[in-house]
Amino acid sequence: MVEKLNAIGAGALKDVSAASTLEAIEQIRISVLGKKGALSEVLKTLGSVSAQERPVIGAAANEWKRKIEAALDERKSVLEKAQLDEQLKSERIDVSLPSRLPHRGSLHPVTQTFRRINQIFSRLGFDTATGPEVETEFLNFEAANIPADHPARDMQDTFFMGPGVVLRTHTTAVQMRAMRSQKWPVRILSPGAVYRSDSDATHSPMFHQVEGLWVDRDVKMSDLKGTLLFFAREMFGPEARIRLRPSYFPFVEPGAEVDVSCFLCRAKPSDSCRVCKGTGWLEILGAGMVHPRLFETAGYGDDYRKLGLSGFAFGMGVERIAMLLHGIPDLRLMFQSDVRFLKQF
Ligand code: DAH
Repeated sequence: MVEKLNAIGAGALKDVSAASTLEAIEQIRISVLGKKGALSEVLKTLGSVSAQERPVIGAAANEWKRKIEAALDERKSVLEKAQLDEQLKSERIDVSLPSRLPHRGSLHPVTQTFRRINQIFSRLGFDTATGPEVETEFLNFEAANIPADHPARDMQDTFFMGPGVVLRTHTTAVQMRAMRSQKWPVRILSPGAVYRSDSDATHSPMFHQVEGLWVDRDVKMSDLKGTLLFFAREMFGPEARIRLRPSYFPFVEPGAEVDVSCFLCRAKPSDSCRVCKGTGWLEILGAGMVHPRLFETAGYGDDYRKLGLSGFAFGMGVERIAMLLHGIPDLRLMFQSDVRFLKQF
């Protein structure tokens, strides 16, 4: 019987040292030491051996049991450690790896253009002035010397909110507010949304304008020209030139449309220029000398003459400037919130 125990014991120790998984260890424990295990089965027959042999066999069995248990525990801890090492290796986090880039938003091209315009004029001392988008018909039109029969008031162009109330059609509406509230000198830039009943590839019912106004003693047309040239060079590059074409706006006299030299073909007209369409020039804004009637409406009385006050004003479409700068072909892209478009700025 002792030999049998020795055979079981030696076999078990061999199996333990060969076991490569924790499940195999458990399997050996059950099949050798378990209730129905090989060792237990041998011990069950202890009753049939003589009284002298019994303690010898019992001692041998206990000794094997102790050895096998010790071997199982040792092997188990070795395997557990190996498993842990493996796990630590596979789950290791390399904190030095570059992370995935966050999805970051960007400023809308209109906002970016607003900011650039604002920065340029703030260097010349222009303050920001704002007014409401729902404006009185008076400030939007009459105060800007646009009489009731002016075509700009046509239902085609203007959104009427109610009697005497409109969605402002231009930021020129802020001029009168500024002239009334701060007297002279006035040097303001008013950015904001404006509304017109018009919609196609180059017109949107809502778009943005920036209006500039400078009122002081002895402000001349040459000051306007110098200011706009500075703006054009800062915005479109140091080689930009401007030209003023006589034009009519009721709130200025004289009035002009202002072109900037094409920044692609540099005002060397060529049929193939896709930006200026071969003209060499791009219209960017309207401008002029503040009409005397505006001073009167603003309540300057006759003082403005005595004081020698004069002023210039200009107004431009922000989307138009952004489209020229970035070569954007369709105004509607600006308002569709398509991230594939917006991501490019
Ligand atoms: N208000 C004009 C428009 O919406 C733009 C403009 C033209 C503004 C001439 C001015 C100006 O101040 O002097 O088209």
